[in-house]
Amino acid sequence: MEINVTKGNIANIDSEAVVTFHFEGETAPSGDMVILDQALGGNLSDLVSKGEIKGKFKEITQLYTFGKIPASRVYVVGLGKRDQVNAEKLRIGISEALKSIQRQGTNNVAITGFIPRIAGLDAEIWGKVLTEGSLLGTYSFKKYVTRKEEEREIQKLTLLAGDDDLLGLIERESLAGKITAESVNLVRDMVNEPGNIMTPTRMAEIAHDLAQKHGLEIHIMEKDDMMRLGMGGLLGVAQGSQQPPKFIVLYYRGRTGEGIDIALVGKGITFDSGGISIKPSEGMGDMKGDMAGGAAVIGAISAVAQLKIRINAMAIIPATENLPGGNAFKPGDIIRIMNGKTVEIISTDAEGRLILADALSYAVEQKAQRIIDVATLTGACRIALGDVCTGAFSNNEELVDMVINSGKNTGECIWQMPMNEEYREQNKSDVADIKNTGGRYAGAITAAWFLREFAGETPWVHLDIAGTSMLDKERGYNPRGATGVPVRTLVDLMMKLAECIK
Ligand code: BES
Ligand code: MN
Ligand code: ZN
Repeated sequence: MEINVTKGNIANIDSEAVVTFHFEGETAPSGDMVILDQALGGNLSDLVSKGEIKGKFKEITQLYTFGKIPASRVYVVGLGKRDQVNAEKLRIGISEALKSIQRQGTNNVAITGFIPRIAGLDAEIWGKVLTEGSLLGTYSFKKYVTRKEEEREIQKLTLLAGDDDLLGLIERESLAGKITAESVNLVRDMVNEPGNIMTPTRMAEIAHDLAQKHGLEIHIMEKDDMMRLGMGGLLGVAQGSQQPPKFIVLYYRGRTGEGIDIALVGKGITFDSGGISIKPSEGMGDMKGDMAGGAAVIGAISAVAQLKIRINAMAIIPATENLPGGNAFKPGDIIRIMNGKTVEIISTDAEGRLILADALSYAVEQKAQRIIDVATLTGACRIALGDVCTGAFSNNEELVDMVINSGKNTGECIWQMPMNEEYREQNKSDVADIKNTGGRYAGAITAAWFLREFAGETPWVHLDIAGTSMLDKERGYNPRGATGVPVRTLVDLMMKLAECIK
């Protein structure tokens, strides 16, 4: 989808469809809808006063213009009550409109530009948010469906800035929204790919191509390197697989001076069968998405590079399959993580924390100032928070508050979970330094405590996206399947961090 920002007039713009907005409980159109109403001879105000257009949140009204304006159809998007409109409602509202426009096979759409002042939202937020909602909402993953006739895509989207002095600002923010949303869609693509395609090797290739394209430094470590570095967690999990594991490291240097301001660590299990502690077969196919954390950190670092944010960041993705087999690691095994700690394996299905332990050790060794890890780590987190909120676990209140706040800015809900010392006890082992499961209760928290042992004193936040990385059915601008969470939160966080670091 090509996105342009122009001045233009909603009533004579040359596009197939135009989109405008209405607020709940208001008896007359406002903003640019007035211009449109005049051009249509009062049709819109008529429908509003008759209560046909109510302006309820997510209400979409489609009207034909019968040649009165160049566009053949008008869509009025309800945004709910004016004083309750926020960025997230705009994202959802515009995505609902564009989804239905796209279904009808419309190619060329223009969106009215006068809401910023009306809704009390900053113009720049408006440009960014509408671009995000448009690109995120119209995403679909159909590359393996051979029958192409159903495939419809909006080609051209025009945002009408309305005002001369706002044009530049809205253009800039729309571009930022586009970079971020396209990174989210790239992550969705990676997560939606089947496990036979999205192997550790393929993840490394994608990271490599993005690095080339956006000027990142990349190191892809192979088995030999892992052995040299003593990555017993990643090597242990990889033992049962024929696919070679990869340890992917990306660096983005966006400011002058040395030092890594933030390390993003992402779980890259390209298929999780559970290993010898094999999972039940029902729904096992969803475990192709167990690399969603790894994909998200790749997407986030490539977005901050394109946005040229003034921060030094690294991304670390330990990638492997988790499969059973003659050579697979087993319950009862004891493995040694890169930082020297030993782990007693209780379940080979608690594999994510093992590969992340090596990655966190690596981030600490690299002297990262902060660490955020992202992982589809536990079914327990999904049970606790469902598919609505990502679980957050941390050893640092200031950092986790920043992360939660970035989640609020972007509409990605993040909910902090407790990390009382008492939970830590559940991970105690008789035969090694720690064991890899802490029993049935508080499974998301004991998993987080396991990770915390490897982050040490570094300010660290763990995001468990087991519930939020994939949806069973579409919701708002998130389709069924991969959501691309929490790419936008990470990008927003790095923007905010860059402001306090400089
Ligand atoms: N990848 C799974 C967690 C998961 C479950 C992600 C459902 C997405 C949806 C993880 O590796 C896993 O198997 N965790 C186990 C841990 C247990 C063995 C301690 C779990 O949650 O059951
Ligand atoms: Mn598992
Ligand atoms: Zn897993």
